[in-house]
Amino acid sequence: MLLLLILNGLLSLAVAQTTPDAKHTLSLPNLPSDHLIRYLNTFPKLKHQLPSNATTRSTSSACWGHERDCSAEARFQNPHCAGDHTGWARSKEAQVQTFYYQADFGYIQQQLMELTPMCMPKYLTDSSLECTRYLRFCRGRNLLFDLRDVAQREERIRYHMDVLSPGQLLGHCDLNRTRLSAEMEHIGSALQSWGPELRNFAVLPKPVLESGLCDLVVNTPTFIMKIDATYNMYHHFCDFFNLYASLFVNQSHPAAFNTDVQILIWETYPYDSPFRDTFKAFSQRPVWTLSDLEGKRVCFRNVVLPLLPRMIFGLFYNTPIIQGCSNSGLFRAFSEFILHRLQIPFKPPQRRLRITYLSRRTKYRQVLNEQDLLSQLEENDDYLVQRVSYERLSFTEQLAITRNTDILIGMHGAGLTHLLFLPNWACIFELYNCEDPNCYKDLARLRGVRYRTWEQRELVYPQDEGHHPEGGAHAKFTNYRFDVEEFLHLVSQAASEKVFTFLCPAPICTILYFIGFDRKSYAPYATLPQAESYQICSRQTESYLSITEAYSRQTECYPSKTE
Ligand SMILES: *[C@@H]1O[C@H](CO)[C@@H](O)[C@H](O)[C@H]1NC(C)=O
Ligand SMILES: *[C@@H]1O[C@H](CO)[C@@H](O)[C@H](O)[C@H]1NC(C)=O
Ligand SMILES: *[C@@H]1O[C@H](CO)[C@@H](O)[C@H](O)[C@H]1NC(C)=O
Repeated sequence: MLLLLILNGLLSLAVAQTTPDAKHTLSLPNLPSDHLIRYLNTFPKLKHQLPSNATTRSTSSACWGHERDCSAEARFQNPHCAGDHTGWARSKEAQVQTFYYQADFGYIQQQLMELTPMCMPKYLTDSSLECTRYLRFCRGRNLLFDLRDVAQREERIRYHMDVLSPGQLLGHCDLNRTRLSAEMEHIGSALQSWGPELRNFAVLPKPVLESGLCDLVVNTPTFIMKIDATYNMYHHFCDFFNLYASLFVNQSHPAAFNTDVQILIWETYPYDSPFRDTFKAFSQRPVWTLSDLEGKRVCFRNVVLPLLPRMIFGLFYNTPIIQGCSNSGLFRAFSEFILHRLQIPFKPPQRRLRITYLSRRTKYRQVLNEQDLLSQLEENDDYLVQRVSYERLSFTEQLAITRNTDILIGMHGAGLTHLLFLPNWACIFELYNCEDPNCYKDLARLRGVRYRTWEQRELVYPQDEGHHPEGGAHAKFTNYRFDVEEFLHLVSQAASEKVFTFLCPAPICTILYFIGFDRKSYAPYATLPQAESYQICSRQTESYLSITEAYSRQTECYPSKTE
């Protein structure tokens, strides 16, 4: 009944939020409930601003997992490493740890521990610069970027290592040049480190903002991004994912999840991408490129150089992942964050499995007997089959389908990156991996969704040996037919592992709630990992909502909007 009390307090809080002159009352970032609780625990002072009767006991220790005192039980999520440890881990524990530090919040913890001052401020409003190892993440204050030369460039800038020349990055602070120079090992390419920019750092003898040198002062905290790609979903999400991870590395102030930030892309190409809406999850401002600033000396009061998409042992693109483990909490948090911020509707699972088939309209990797495969699949009354061409839909429309899919089927291709946004219980079926076996299998492991692919080589029929643009045969450059029986068999295997058939009927769930089962303990009845949001969305009953759930309820569930 504690929760009931909480709810009231919360609702009054929510009201306070929406009144226009509520500026001095509490303003919480727009986050899913599980995230908001951890945010509040990171900045416990904010909790004192909440009505005193609006706190939950059960979640008071919840943490993300990058905090040093965060216990495994209180983490956002723990890795799954089923079975015996194999390969290079010494023990089960070492295996789990390895995964956690490679690909989960442990990675963030490592970055935080590495954060070292490179240029020390002499007083509070002085310049500063601090970075992690190999300059993979940096942040600074009151720094001058001299972009006057950029306007003179003939060629457009992208992946360049020479955007700045010596002395074109200035700060007024105590620079430890030895330390900065010692971190320049990863400057082999533009997207591995901020070294190519920071090697040009020089000390300005007078305070930056008073120097009279700034043609433009940017007051809004700014993320400068060196991005990997804009049209390929896999590669562009490597950019977005690392931006998200960087929010945690820079999370030393309650403004951590604010959207009043500026994104500056370190290119002079105009930014355009089918996935550009994703930036709205991070920033309410239009994205800048260097073209918006060229010709000026620009002073940033607050600048973050986030984790990059092609770092050595980096996240997502180059993540080495130990065998046998899956389920990175950081990846799940990213997925939930994007879906929440972009207000993608969530519909509870139904009796029939929602199967989405991604149809490609490209020259290669088409499925020649697609129609046949799908009509056979549709005959199964347990399936609700949908064939979609994502390139014809807006990105948020695509996400709305993915989020409400139980089995996603598609040929090897960047569209499979959508697996990041599948519900936790879903399965991605990479129809054929075209001899690139690890890419989406690993991504599925990181995200924690099940993965299947075609196994019987003799039951897939390529049109020909494939024509790589640079000559030679190549499995990605041809089209395929698939054996219908085997296809149905693989789908039924994916379907039989579904977990939510055991979902308890709503009245029983409610009773379980009231006799004190929390989400974890009634999990055996509803092995659905998102049972909580399922309950909230489908029953529209508020009696068991905890504080943050009620807070984010409006943004988390839109069952009526789309039905
Ligand atoms: C919680 O505190 C607020 C403000 O002090 C009060 O208005 C509200 O009635 C309280 N709620 C409950 C359930 O006690
Ligand atoms: C500069 O950094 C190096 C390497 O981290 C360190 O040994 C040295 O003491 C630092 N110098 C100063 C003046 O702090
Ligand atoms: C990074 O953190 C600083 C200090 O906590 C904060 O003031 C700033 O707004 C953050 N920067 C961005 C771009 O969010």
